[in-house]
Amino acid sequence: MRQSVDVNRVLEQNRRYHDEVEADVYDTRMGVIHDSFTVRQMIAELERVLGRPLPTGCTVVDVGAGTGNVAVKLAMSGRFDRIIAADISEGMLARARASAEAAGCSIETVQTDMVRLPFEDETIDLVVGCAVLHHLPDPLAFMAEVRRVLKPGGSCIFIGEPSKWGKRIIETLKLPLIGVNRVYKLVSGRPGISWEHDNIDVHTFSIRDLRRVTAGYENVRLVPEGFLETVLDQSFFTAIRYMQGTLPGVIPVVTAIRRTCRALDQSLLNRIVPRDLRTDMKFSAVKPARTDTASVT
Ligand SMILES: C[S@@+](CC[C@H](N)C(=O)[O-])C[C@H]1O[C@@H](n2cnc3c(N)ncnc32)[C@H](O)[C@@H]1O
Repeated sequence: MRQSVDVNRVLEQNRRYHDEVEADVYDTRMGVIHDSFTVRQMIAELERVLGRPLPTGCTVVDVGAGTGNVAVKLAMSGRFDRIIAADISEGMLARARASAEAAGCSIETVQTDMVRLPFEDETIDLVVGCAVLHHLPDPLAFMAEVRRVLKPGGSCIFIGEPSKWGKRIIETLKLPLIGVNRVYKLVSGRPGISWEHDNIDVHTFSIRDLRRVTAGYENVRLVPEGFLETVLDQSFFTAIRYMQGTLPGVIPVVTAIRRTCRALDQSLLNRIVPRDLRTDMKFSAVKPARTDTASVT
């Protein structure tokens, strides 16, 4: 986790990048789909990280909800009273609303930079977040803000955060693709916008970092998972998914390979790959009824 960042730059680059680039391509790039299989899969993943069934009939906030990957699936499950999708990018939230409408369910959306969450103290039952902490200027301050809005005994669950070592492996494997992309840009003369990626993907997390971000919570569960699926997906499949329009049949093949890799991760690699090398950092934590107790398992 980086120690010092330019807060305004990180917020502004994230807002613009997600509005101007990601909103149009994110679901395709990341293979986000909403159907009964992916809804069950999402609920199962959140419950595995929480270590017990999700609460029902309550208010849930999806922080950094983006195009609604988590929020729409939670709404489709029909288990909750209120789902609020919070994000800095209005473009991403517009996609989330469209996906919810297409799925026949409803979510509320709120645009916020989350430096301060726009909710009263102790009003939220469950906070979920997928692939968001690494974009924030100050994950430690943000987790204090999550604690402020959670009801005592309320939980937060975070998934999909890049691990420090997993990211290094992926970056190394991506080098040839980055080279090809540079040559392509040079040859085609395609004008490139130079995004400050260091100010967009700001942090990676080690197990030690996760212990720091969950300080002040209790029943902390650190669940680093995944290796092969994420490594292959982020190194190669992302590029392949862009070609789906021109090469029919690509997506089913990539999806089948991803599911096979995930099965291998779940059946074997999650047990033998060292925790810090696993690629997806996931954790859950509970706001204590009394704020002076904290325990880590
Ligand atoms: C990688 S996307 C993840 C989206 C979604 N959670 C998912 O699972 O697909 C990260 C999201 O975080 C949002 N984000 C980044 N910085 C933010 C901030 N400071 N406040 C609120 N949202 C932010 C981005 O706009 C983007 O939608």
